[in-house]
Amino acid sequence: MTDADRELYDRALAVSARAYAPYSRYLVGAAVRARDGRVFEGVNVENAAYPLGVCAERSALVGAVVAGYRPGDLEAIGITASPCGGCRQWLHEFRLERVVYAREGGEVVSATPADLLPDGWNLPEEP
Ligand code: THU
Repeated sequence: MTDADRELYDRALAVSARAYAPYSRYLVGAAVRARDGRVFEGVNVENAAYPLGVCAERSALVGAVVAGYRPGDLEAIGITASPCGGCRQWLHEFRLERVVYAREGGEVVSATPADLLPDGWNLPEEP
């Protein structure tokens, strides 16, 4: 793993302290780095209406999109948890090159979205 990717993971870990997770008490942080070097952080944000909560990696990606970044503009993401199934579809959509995440047990590994979501689904082209 590159030093830059390890730093990204460390940023995710630092920001996880700001997660809003009063229901699960499971704090997750994420940090996504664009190809131009800008980094966007995210945390999970829960809600009393449980299904409305948002995951850390999605909140980081939303921040990048608000700043104008699009699929293909983002190089790597660090996440302090193994991404959930729905987030794997987001990572596929944004075409991250590398996903650096903590596996259950704490080992930090690097994978591609295709490793995490084989046969990822795409919207079919209009005929
Ligand atoms: N969570 C994330 O933020 N990212 C993941 O990939 C795994 C799960 C959050 C969602 C929820 O706020 C809490 O972890 C677990 O209930």
